[in-house]
Amino acid sequence: MDYSADLTRAHKKISESSPAYRKLAPGIDFPAVVEYIKDLDEMFREIVLPHFDYEDDKLFQEILPLGGPDLILLVEKFKKEHKEMKEKLERVIEISARLWADPAAPQKDKDDLASLCNELIQDLIDHAREEDEKIFPLLRKNL
Ligand SMILES: [Fe+2]
Ligand SMILES: [Fe+2]
Repeated sequence: MDYSADLTRAHKKISESSPAYRKLAPGIDFPAVVEYIKDLDEMFREIVLPHFDYEDDKLFQEILPLGGPDLILLVEKFKKEHKEMKEKLERVIEISARLWADPAAPQKDKDDLASLCNELIQDLIDHAREEDEKIFPLLRKNL
């Protein structure tokens, strides 16, 4: 199996998969945020979370024997980031449901939710970039 081609495809698919990959503009109104979160959730469930599982269960296991202690630490870091992004997504969904059910929800809570969405997207961008930089060269050399 060509892991590096596989990973390139998956990362490309993530970056092109949805308008939700773009960040929310400041001041966007709440119904638009809810619509955005629906897209974001869909993108994660259909593409991003299965990709995390694939990396956790398969790819990282395959590459671990190719490196030393540094690679073990790097893989631990990536796995931790997967877990943190999953938790952040759950928080986004939970807060969104709560705010949507409360017409009197303060604007600040809505703005905080928009910031959390943007944080999640930035986390995903940074994470994929670091994997590209550190995992791809290893795959090309060894697998
Ligand atoms: Fe990853
Ligand atoms: Fe990845």
